[in-house]
Amino acid sequence: MFGAIKNRIPRDAGERSRGATRPIGTADIRSEPRELRVEALGLRKTYTGGAREIHALQGVDLHVAKGEFVGVLGPNGAGKTTLIECLEGIRRPDTGEVRILGADTSDAGKMKKIRGRMGIALQHSTLPPRLTVREILTLQVRLYASQVRVDRMIDLVGIGDKADQRIEHLSGGQQQRVAVAMALMGDPELMFLDEPTSQLDPHARLALWELLYTQRDRRDASVVITTHQMEEAQRICDRVVIIDHGRVIAEGRPKELLRQHFTSRRMNFMLPIAAALDLRALNARSEPAGNGMKRVSLQTERPGATLVELAQLYGDSMIDLSVEEPTLEELFVKLTGTALQGETA
Ligand SMILES: Nc1ncnc2c1ncn2[C@@H]1O[C@H](COP(=O)(O)OP(=O)(O)O)[C@@H](O)[C@H]1O
Ligand SMILES: [Mg+2]
Repeated sequence: MFGAIKNRIPRDAGERSRGATRPIGTADIRSEPRELRVEALGLRKTYTGGAREIHALQGVDLHVAKGEFVGVLGPNGAGKTTLIECLEGIRRPDTGEVRILGADTSDAGKMKKIRGRMGIALQHSTLPPRLTVREILTLQVRLYASQVRVDRMIDLVGIGDKADQRIEHLSGGQQQRVAVAMALMGDPELMFLDEPTSQLDPHARLALWELLYTQRDRRDASVVITTHQMEEAQRICDRVVIIDHGRVIAEGRPKELLRQHFTSRRMNFMLPIAAALDLRALNARSEPAGNGMKRVSLQTERPGATLVELAQLYGDSMIDLSVEEPTLEELFVKLTGTALQGETA
């Protein structure tokens, strides 16, 4: 695993605060000007050559502030990789402009100067197959003249026992960890990670997020990550940008987005089977649940008021109360009419 790292990933990134003076998220974007690490405007990209043209990006704007974690979400083929590669400066958009760390990505001279301040993990990293993990990372250290010790980084990404293995002998998930280690090697202020967790198990995923948070704390690093795993993004990103067919279809802090799009909440609880139930206004449904209890489920537009009413009506006889929170997955379905589940990118 990723070494002995304390799990301090919050249940909801939007509620996290980084010290008393600097809360993160949209609130401080509005109240104080923040240094932008990424500014992209009007990005369009069309692939030609095959039987048909593919409009991979159809006018995308995106900005990322200092210290911000932004998740680019969308199904397979949505344009996430095209977008992140345009932001990294390794792919030219047909039209539009990108500035990262103040440098215009079309300006080779300026890009060369800032190259050491950013870290990139490509989706399909073509790592040199015949080199070992340690050899690749040692090369990386020379490029960046960083103080980070190679062996420590190999341990941090959880492949200490693979240090002298050739890349070609590593699993997909282990190669992903090497790619992330390479991205972190230069102690970057800005990181781009394209689906870095797709082949990792849940524990390794948490550990990866922990590493990225540590980098944020140390350097005020900004992170742009693409994923098709909405649940993960909802938990860890300050802001998400949902794209579909090359367009941004929703953007914001996960909690705020969900609040905007879903006003009602589903509540579930148990009551003694004999309890009178008159919650027709709330479309309550009930079913026997054994042990003399029934399970009740209802939908309400006023969760707070409904809770008070339920407490007054049923008091202690109501047990196992839960309120279902809407998810980004549900938001995606609502906005596009299609499910994201099961997609791979
Ligand atoms: N080099 C390429 N040449 C032609 N089509 C491409 C190329 N790269 C991506 N595409 C197409 O562009 C669309 C967006 O792809 P991509 O950016 O990889 O999306 P995602 O990362 O969200 O899966 C897809 O339809 C994909 O097939
Ligand atoms: Mg992709």
